[in-house]
Amino acid sequence: MTFRSSDESGFVERVPADRWRVPWWERGVIYQVYPRSFQDSNADGIGDLAGIESRLDYLASLGVDAIWLSPIFPSPMADFGYDVADYCDVDPIFGDLAGFDRLLLAVHKHGLKLLLDFVPNHSSDQHPWFVESRTSRENAKRDWYIWRDPAPGGGPPNNWISDFGGSSWQWDETTGQYYLHAFLKSQPDLNWRSSEVREAMMSVLKFWFDRGVDGFRIDVLWHIIKAETLPDNPINADWDPCRTQRDQLIQLHSTDQPEAHAISAEFRALADSYQDRVLIGEIALPNDRLARWYGTPAQPQVHLPFNFQLIESEWDAAVLRLKIANYETSLPEFGWPNWVMGSHDAARIAARLGDAQARVAAMLLLTLRGTPTLYQGDEIGIGEVVIPPDRVRDPQDLRQPNLGIGRDRSRTPIPWDATAYGGFSTVDPWLPLNEDWRERNIAAQAEDTDSLLTLYRRLLTLRRSCEALAIGDMTLVGAADEVLVYQRRYAGDGLLVVLNLTHELQALTLPNHTEVIEVLASTLPPSIAKPTHWVLHQMEGLLAPDEGLVLRLKEKN
Ligand code: GLC
Repeated sequence: MTFRSSDESGFVERVPADRWRVPWWERGVIYQVYPRSFQDSNADGIGDLAGIESRLDYLASLGVDAIWLSPIFPSPMADFGYDVADYCDVDPIFGDLAGFDRLLLAVHKHGLKLLLDFVPNHSSDQHPWFVESRTSRENAKRDWYIWRDPAPGGGPPNNWISDFGGSSWQWDETTGQYYLHAFLKSQPDLNWRSSEVREAMMSVLKFWFDRGVDGFRIDVLWHIIKAETLPDNPINADWDPCRTQRDQLIQLHSTDQPEAHAISAEFRALADSYQDRVLIGEIALPNDRLARWYGTPAQPQVHLPFNFQLIESEWDAAVLRLKIANYETSLPEFGWPNWVMGSHDAARIAARLGDAQARVAAMLLLTLRGTPTLYQGDEIGIGEVVIPPDRVRDPQDLRQPNLGIGRDRSRTPIPWDATAYGGFSTVDPWLPLNEDWRERNIAAQAEDTDSLLTLYRRLLTLRRSCEALAIGDMTLVGAADEVLVYQRRYAGDGLLVVLNLTHELQALTLPNHTEVIEVLASTLPPSIAKPTHWVLHQMEGLLAPDEGLVLRLKEKN
């Protein structure tokens, strides 16, 4: 047994027979690098591979295990790399293949893994495949994309709406047909019903696996194939006009099709033909449908179907407790959980929760059972960054302004120190820095024992040294509604994580017949939380405002 959602005693533990055989991606922590905004090395205001290489000491010392790079491939950058014009090369903005090989070698020398972003649902309209496909209806690559005649009365073939707003169909004058695009019109969807497309894309994965990459995050995997006859999607009766246009419809026929699972299994079979490679699927679906992407033991699919619930959830202990329990319960027996707290698509953690709760969020992310994914800049608590209208670059925001869904605010450059442009570049970066970069930067926080960065480091170190946190079982414990409590156990070691999700004092109750023998971590800055703090609080039965604790427990005799 790996998970229980009650506080009953008599816990049954699963201890892997050989803990060293737990795959690296189960005990490891993934760190997402958004290459445009990590480190510029050639004074063009945009981050690049050499820049990332120059910051590997930082990543290794932070204590993460793997780096996932958002797309680095040649691209017109209409969607900042998620519009790929060549799957097997590097965009000159970022470097070249030789530079990639150097980076990969350096990553491995630092004891880290490197994951790339695979974008199989769509290419750029500048990809030679699409350039060919659109030349004539008879072209050999015509059916590499999804072309259709207009609807009988004219207009688009069906009612599908692009995730970035407007119809999913673009009229193409040359051949008098529409093509499908789930995102921008410059991101035509590939036709995964074509065996040639499948072969070509498998070769892409091979190309990078052969170069030595340790795995992929697969972009919008649940979009990859569409219902064969492309029926209209049902209307969403609950649509709220404050939400994106896409939400007017339920994406019943355009996403999560049964055939997609065979494709996902094919990716996995290829990954498994190499050693120790991981596949992560970007899949935004409810638990029951998300769990299917693990596949079965006989025919596994992705190792980690991304779990975005910590991004989407209300920040409330009762809500989170239920979500964690439901997610854990939905997992297949062999499925390893994972947790994502931030990304290049979501609002910043500190913008959502504020500085004090961003510390509690760090503890939650790094102590839940499952692989955490940490997004660059969240470790120093970059908050809301207001992007002046003339500097907005995100195509989704430009197409649907005023919805508050802009993604640029989470893609601003990393401030490394207090020198010009935060040490990110020597020229004005492509997006502005966080306004408080002179104080909120990596160097400043690295020296400050009270900083969020120091807390992340401590928690990552603790996770690495503590099997109960890395691979142990988890039991949610009933507690006051405002406090989230769970136990982590491994081979006789029992930890209790207690998280006060409010700015008020809360009751701290230990499970029956247990006592605290050690405080392993606190979210409170050490200058506030003196060593005696927890003892006093425990005596008073109180948890300070915004306080999270990792405690080592023992059974009372
Ligand atoms: C994924 C990416 C996002 C991109 C979209 C289209 O959701 O995370 O940034 O815009 O796919 O490729």
